[in-house]
Amino acid sequence: MRIGILTAGGDCPGINAAIRGVGKSAILEYGMEVIGIRDGYLGLIEKDYTPLDERALSGILTVGGTILGTSREKPFKNGSNSSSVSKPELIQKNYDELKLDCLVCIGGNGTIKTAEKLSRMGMNIICIPKTIDNDIWGTDASFGFDSAVNIATEALDRLHSTANSHKRIMLMEVMGHHAGWLTLYTGIAGGADVILIPEIGYSMEIINSYLRKRQMNSKPYSIIVVAEGIEFPEENYSSAAHYIAKLVEESTGMETRETVLGYIQRGGIPSPMDRLLATQFGAYAAQLISEKKFGNLVILKGDKISKIPLKDSAGKTKLVSEDHPLIEDARLLRTCFGDR
Ligand code: F6P
Repeated sequence: MRIGILTAGGDCPGINAAIRGVGKSAILEYGMEVIGIRDGYLGLIEKDYTPLDERALSGILTVGGTILGTSREKPFKNGSNSSSVSKPELIQKNYDELKLDCLVCIGGNGTIKTAEKLSRMGMNIICIPKTIDNDIWGTDASFGFDSAVNIATEALDRLHSTANSHKRIMLMEVMGHHAGWLTLYTGIAGGADVILIPEIGYSMEIINSYLRKRQMNSKPYSIIVVAEGIEFPEENYSSAAHYIAKLVEESTGMETRETVLGYIQRGGIPSPMDRLLATQFGAYAAQLISEKKFGNLVILKGDKISKIPLKDSAGKTKLVSEDHPLIEDARLLRTCFGDR
């Protein structure tokens, strides 16, 4: 069999471990030929690819980013190119010309949505979930998330000591698109006083009165973790953290500073947990291909690697539920989520 691997959407730690997991199992266990498609779906449109042999797959387990490159190309959204052949048609043509028996798409929600459409056109597809957002429907976890939690928690630990020295309110904004997973895990692991996530509506009055109470109880500083996806007047403020910081400073009179962590959360070496998950996902994907079980998303359920049909996940987002056990536990410790 001949398979293609592509990586699409935002990068994250662990992608190369997944490429290695699929590629090495495919070559060594199942005798397949493997090619890497460059820059996500763009590489399929432009027929830009590179052979992936055992040598090319060596030494990449711990490397951040993706050796194949990525893009946010959405072939079903961006219309047709100048030659008037639609992008999905070009993809089909190149898939046939490359004589692929299966395409492995490593990506997040956008990637899965596109992959499901390609699968409906008749291409054999397997998806592997990756994202720092942890918002892929149907899987308990995606690799990238654990590394991002580690990075963001370390940043929060550092903000703690400077907040304490200066007796300031420190805000840190965390990524996650529309989901609050990364903020929730980081906030709790880093002992934040206030955690604001898109899934829970907040009131500035509640946040400010909580912070004033801390002041009155002689707490010299406070730490607030804010998800990038919370609602705020985007036309007037550069970031969610900027908005909350301004209102908090005005109300409490305490010196307030914000830090937007940004792309640091997506860079660098994958954590050991992400390497494990990516390797398991990759090896399982190769097994599915050898059994011709196409049209599936590889998932983690409990401690088992398994699969679900792509159509079950495509177009859905896994959000934090308001009664998530982590939230309930944090509320017992009087962590404020801005709603009560
Ligand atoms: O999906 C990963 C992610 O980092 C989100 O957390 C964030 O909202 C988005 O990507 C940023 O996208 P871009 O890389 O296109 O700026």
